[in-house]
Amino acid sequence: MSTRRTRTIVAALATVLLAGSMAACGNSDTGGDGGDGKIVLGFSQVGAESGWRTANTTSIKEAATEAGIELKFDDAQQKQENQIKAIRNFIQQKVDVIAFSPVVESGWDTVLKEAKDAGIPVILTDRAVDSADKTLYKTFLGSDFVKEGRLAGEWLVEQTKTATGPVNIVELQGTTGSAPANDRKEGFAAAIAANPNLKIVASQSGDFKRADGKQVMEQFLKANPDIDVLFAHNDDMGLGALEAITAAGKVPGKDITIITIDAVKDGMQALADGKFNFIAECSPLLGPQLMELAKKVDAGEEVPARIETEETTFTQEQAKEALPNRKY
Ligand code: AHR
Repeated sequence: MSTRRTRTIVAALATVLLAGSMAACGNSDTGGDGGDGKIVLGFSQVGAESGWRTANTTSIKEAATEAGIELKFDDAQQKQENQIKAIRNFIQQKVDVIAFSPVVESGWDTVLKEAKDAGIPVILTDRAVDSADKTLYKTFLGSDFVKEGRLAGEWLVEQTKTATGPVNIVELQGTTGSAPANDRKEGFAAAIAANPNLKIVASQSGDFKRADGKQVMEQFLKANPDIDVLFAHNDDMGLGALEAITAAGKVPGKDITIITIDAVKDGMQALADGKFNFIAECSPLLGPQLMELAKKVDAGEEVPARIETEETTFTQEQAKEALPNRKY
C-alpha cells in the first residue's frame, strides 16, 4: 500500500472522529488532496532574487500542471523563518509530499523531524542542507555547486597561465550561508590555488541580486584600483557589476575579465556581447524531475539519495551559438 494511501486512511479516520468538533468550530479545512485523488505537493521557494530563480519557479509550476500534481507554492522572500513556517503549514494541511530549496544550509533538523514524524516525505531541490541525519529527507535534486566554482577557477587558471605578475580577483558571493555561496567559493579557491599569481583581493556577498552586485562592485572599485578579474557567484550580480564597471570608466570583458555562474538569457547575452568572459552553467529546469520524484516518494518507491543536474560551460563563442535556443 502506498504511503499516501496509508496517510489518506489515517487522515480519513481522523476526519470522521473530528468531524463534529470541526463543524462546531466552523473549520472547513479538508487538508491534503481535498478528495480529488491528485498528489498534493507543498513547495517552499527561496524567493525571486534572480533570473535563475524566476526560471526555476516557472519550471516547477509548469511541470506540476503537466504532471497533474496539485502544487501549494510558497515564496519565502529569502527568509529561513518563512520557509520553516511554510513547511509547518504544509504539515498541518497534510500535503502528500513537501519539497523545498533551502535558503541557507543550517538549521533545518527540527522542522524536518516534524515532517518525518508526520509521515510526509521531503525532497530537497536546488540547494542542500547540512543535517547529519540523512533520513530526514528522501533525496536531493540539484547541481554540484563545488564543481561549478571549480570549472570557473580552472578556466581562469588556463587563461592566466602565462601571467608573470599578480592577477587581482574580486569575488561577489551569493547569499551568506547558502549552499551555492559556500560551495562555489570553495570550488573556485581550490582551482585557483594551482597558480600562486591568482589572488582574491576582496570577497563580499551581493545576495545573488543585481542591485547588490552593483553596489558591492562600486565599493570594490573604490578600494582596489587594480582589479583584473571579477568572479560573481551568479549572472545577476555580474550584470549589476557591469554597470558599476562601466560607470567607473572601465571596459567589462576587457579591462576586467568577468566570470559568472548560471547562464540565464541575460547573462548569455552579456557573454555573447563580449562583456562577460566565461559562464559555468547552473540549470534551473528542475520541475519535471521534481514531479517524477514526488510521484515516486508518494508511492513509497526508493529513489537515489542524490540526483545531480547535468550542466556545461560557455565561452563567448559558445554563447553566441547557444543563445537563439536558450529557454530561460
Ligand atoms: O541556488 C541556485 C542559485 O540561486 C543560483 O545560482 C542563483 O542565481 C540563485 O539565486
